[in-house]
Amino acid sequence: MAEKERAKRNKTIYLTENEHIYFSKKIYRSEKCNNIRIEDILNKTINNDLFDIIDYLPKQFADLIVIDPPYNLTKNFNGFTFKSSSKNEYLDYLRSWFPKIVSFLKPNGSLYLCGDWKSTSALQQIMEENLNVINRITWQREKGRGALNNWKNAMEDIWFGVKNIKDYYFNVESVKQKRKVIAPYKENGKPKDWEATAEGNFRLTYPSNFWDDISIPYWSMPENTDHPTQKPEKLIAKLILSGCPENGTVFDPFLGSGTTSVVAKKLNRQYVGIEMNEEYCCLAEKRLELADNNRNIQGYSDGVFWERNTALQIAESKKRNW
Ligand SMILES: C[S@@+](CC[C@H](N)C(=O)[O-])C[C@H]1O[C@@H](n2cnc3c(N)ncnc32)[C@H](O)[C@@H]1O
Repeated sequence: MAEKERAKRNKTIYLTENEHIYFSKKIYRSEKCNNIRIEDILNKTINNDLFDIIDYLPKQFADLIVIDPPYNLTKNFNGFTFKSSSKNEYLDYLRSWFPKIVSFLKPNGSLYLCGDWKSTSALQQIMEENLNVINRITWQREKGRGALNNWKNAMEDIWFGVKNIKDYYFNVESVKQKRKVIAPYKENGKPKDWEATAEGNFRLTYPSNFWDDISIPYWSMPENTDHPTQKPEKLIAKLILSGCPENGTVFDPFLGSGTTSVVAKKLNRQYVGIEMNEEYCCLAEKRLELADNNRNIQGYSDGVFWERNTALQIAESKKRNW
């Protein structure tokens, strides 16, 4: 993942050798068999194997937990290869850590668990065994290889569960979508439920559980890294804004390139992330440092989520508000 030849317009975030040394000093590492205090890990990237520290983390510290675990696929994460297995073996793997992760959730907390179609029946089962399942979001991904003998895989599931069905935080107003109006209907000469703006005709809508407005990070996006399964900031922003109050705490036990922590920071939330690969931890730290001066989340602006391909309108809107 170190420096390599890249095209000029390629915005992928990478680490130089010096940066690796610099950022590795910012990472938190825990020795085994020590109880860990929340004040030691708040707003930190923890570079440990989850299994080595899961019994020593503080209970009930998180308002929101976002989990993007290895899916039931064979995948190389910078030297560590997760192996695809049977549904029952994958379920055993989930059962070895998921209930403990739930114990880190506050009594009114929420949890999201990501996966693909192959993992999803095990994911549903583990969610139902440990939480109240509220919904399943389907995210239509744009990228992905086509196959000659099968349908191209272009969707993922995000399971949504809460500890207490009668008391959980859900701020739907903060995740409204700004959509282009295809047929601008008027009543008495005035727009009905839409607005004519300098950028075009738009309607603000409440979000559904089908998300088709988010693309996977790619080389020309400033959030992109070389992590093989990086989640888009826009996707995580929807989970955090709706599921965690300002200054609340978001926890991600499989942090990867740091997306959850970075978005939490950009949206004024506290964060804790665990990732066993040191290089990914350093990338996360670099992204966190970049967020000191740039809180932009692509596709989210003026407090609303814009449709795909509205970059021009977003830029115009920003110019007007400056
Ligand atoms: C699907 S990726 C998460 C990607 C992340 N959402 C992002 O946006 O970059 C899963 C991550 O979990 C890490 N991982 C797998 N097993 C782990 C373990 N036992 N402890 C800590 N990290 C682990 C892998 O190194 C990988 O980076």
